[in-house]
Amino acid sequence: MNGPRMHEPRKIAGDTWILPASLPVPGAGLLSVNAYLIDGREPILIDTGMLGLRDDFMRAVRSVIAPAELRWIWITHADPDHVGNLMPILAEAPQARVVTSFLGFGKLGLLGHDIPNVHLLNPGQTLDAGGRTLVSVAPPAFDAPETAGAFDPDTQFFFSADCFGALLHEPAESAMDIAPDTLREGLVTWSTVDSPWLHRIDHKAFDQSLAAVRDLNPKAILSGHLPPAFGMTDTLLAHLAAAPNAQPFVGPDQDAFEQMMAGMLTENA
Ligand SMILES: [Fe+2]
Ligand SMILES: [Fe+2]
Repeated sequence: MNGPRMHEPRKIAGDTWILPASLPVPGAGLLSVNAYLIDGREPILIDTGMLGLRDDFMRAVRSVIAPAELRWIWITHADPDHVGNLMPILAEAPQARVVTSFLGFGKLGLLGHDIPNVHLLNPGQTLDAGGRTLVSVAPPAFDAPETAGAFDPDTQFFFSADCFGALLHEPAESAMDIAPDTLREGLVTWSTVDSPWLHRIDHKAFDQSLAAVRDLNPKAILSGHLPPAFGMTDTLLAHLAAAPNAQPFVGPDQDAFEQMMAGMLTENA
């Protein structure tokens, strides 16, 4: 089985970078796992990638910025694909403050992470990073209660955490490069996997949370699990709106898993 892979960091626009990786998901395709970096007056790293890619992730960060210059590390939520390299980063970024919520801070503590400098922020509140502001926004879909996306009014980029992720067939540099059917199916499936509660929700309340993203009028949606999506907000919102009515996700059980593994062994023989 192929493992996770780090890709070359790329400048998205201006001072905003993507640190992209991909994670093969057996039987389901490939998931992007992105961190982002805003290389402004007070540089902000948004998420810290997967621990399994520690050396490659650190190399990727260092190729864009000296980690010691980082002033803020915005943690969208405390899942392992978002906080995997928080400690190695902090070890090289002594002046960085970790931005999270009270709950996120608690969960990082439970993970054994000793955070020397924390800055607690709730959805609706704004971080002032040396004149550059980031607004904390709770995205419509999420898998952890502490989830906080970030909206950058300067660039109109919306860093949406797990929301708007999609299972793909292959890595892509832009969401625009993904075949429309693949994007729709991949986004709906990912949303049912990541947010199984979508099947139990009040549709009116969910529609309001989708409208709140539309009202942000983001120039690009920068998900943790999708290549950058410029000018595609309506498309992504329409796909996400379909998720509550899609087939609920049920993972392979032991028998199906053994069959999957046997199939993969045959393929690789
Ligand atoms: Fe997550
Ligand atoms: Fe995630």
